[in-house]
Amino acid sequence: MRALVTGSAGFVGSHLVEQLCASGWQVVGVDCLVPYYDVAQKQANLAEIEGLAGFEHVDADLRAADLPALLQGVDVVFHQAGQPGVRASWDEFESYVQHNVLATQRLLDAARRVSLRRFVYASSSSVYGNAATYPTREDTLPRPQSPYGVTKLAAEHLCGLYARNWDVPTVSLRYFTVYGPRQRPDMAMHRLIQAALTREAFPLFGSGDQVRDFTFVGDVVAANLAAVTADVRHGAVLNVAGARSHTLNDVIAVVERLTERSVALDRRPAQAGDVDRTGADVSAAETVLRWSPQTPVDAGLERQVRWHIDRLGRRSS
Ligand SMILES: NC(=O)c1ccc[n+]([C@@H]2O[C@H](COP(=O)([O-])OP(=O)(O)OC[C@H]3O[C@@H](n4cnc5c(N)ncnc54)[C@H](O)[C@@H]3O)[C@@H](O)[C@H]2O)c1
Repeated sequence: MRALVTGSAGFVGSHLVEQLCASGWQVVGVDCLVPYYDVAQKQANLAEIEGLAGFEHVDADLRAADLPALLQGVDVVFHQAGQPGVRASWDEFESYVQHNVLATQRLLDAARRVSLRRFVYASSSSVYGNAATYPTREDTLPRPQSPYGVTKLAAEHLCGLYARNWDVPTVSLRYFTVYGPRQRPDMAMHRLIQAALTREAFPLFGSGDQVRDFTFVGDVVAANLAAVTADVRHGAVLNVAGARSHTLNDVIAVVERLTERSVALDRRPAQAGDVDRTGADVSAAETVLRWSPQTPVDAGLERQVRWHIDRLGRRSS
């Protein structure tokens, strides 16, 4: 099987490439190393995957790339590329529209001209905003709370409409706060672990009582792989989330235990666009994908803490 993984130098994309190569796939990864966060981290991700058997990296921007050439012989597209981050999306909306909406439409338009087994789109819990009900099911009316969420929802709708009109075999997976080794440096767990290990203060936005379903990156990769073979309706939308909800204060306590350090909190007001709670009903993914999250948050965090320690060790040596 041959896959096109977009966003392959990123957090989720690089893990997906690793697992696909380990399973014997031929993988073309495309990424243009958008400097939203330190490009050195993306280069380090690439360095981890570049030598893998079956992997080929293409440095290209989906907004301009020769997509028919990239899709040649491809069975499955895993579209992970995107402009993430809730807070920056207020000021940089054009970039979010370009990378999340226009790039996705270009890719879908090229995909409708080839024969694919599956087109998996990395959607987001951000489409829900402050949802009317918890745990939130996929048929809950999406009401994004940030410009980022609006662009992720728009791209999800594009996946639905290319499925209905052109039978592109899309499935949108709504990821809930993904964490694990290589997590993006703008995400709370990354900043928290880094603060604990370097004895710096952790800027805590809001009370810390905000509730999230944290999802280990290995479980997200497994859901992507399950989507390839599952008997899934074209255009389907599925929640992909961890098994239990936790507050940020819970996570702080776990990180303090794992690092054996207490974290100094720099308390700040909640930020526009942040939601109070995310919490998924994953029963649809359990039924359709025969997938369920396997990694409890303390076990996943232990692996992420180890990654941070190794990384800090490499930097100081
Ligand atoms: N990490 C999470 O918690 C989370 C939650 C919900 C949804 N998502 C979605 O999952 C996907 C992966 O997220 P991540 O955390 O790995 O982000 P990431 O920023 O680490 O990875 C995304 C990659 O896409 C690349 N990219 C962006 N625009 C591109 C373009 N036009 N052409 C080529 N490459 C481009 C970037 O350079 C980056 O390396 C994103 O679409 C994101 O919206 C992530």
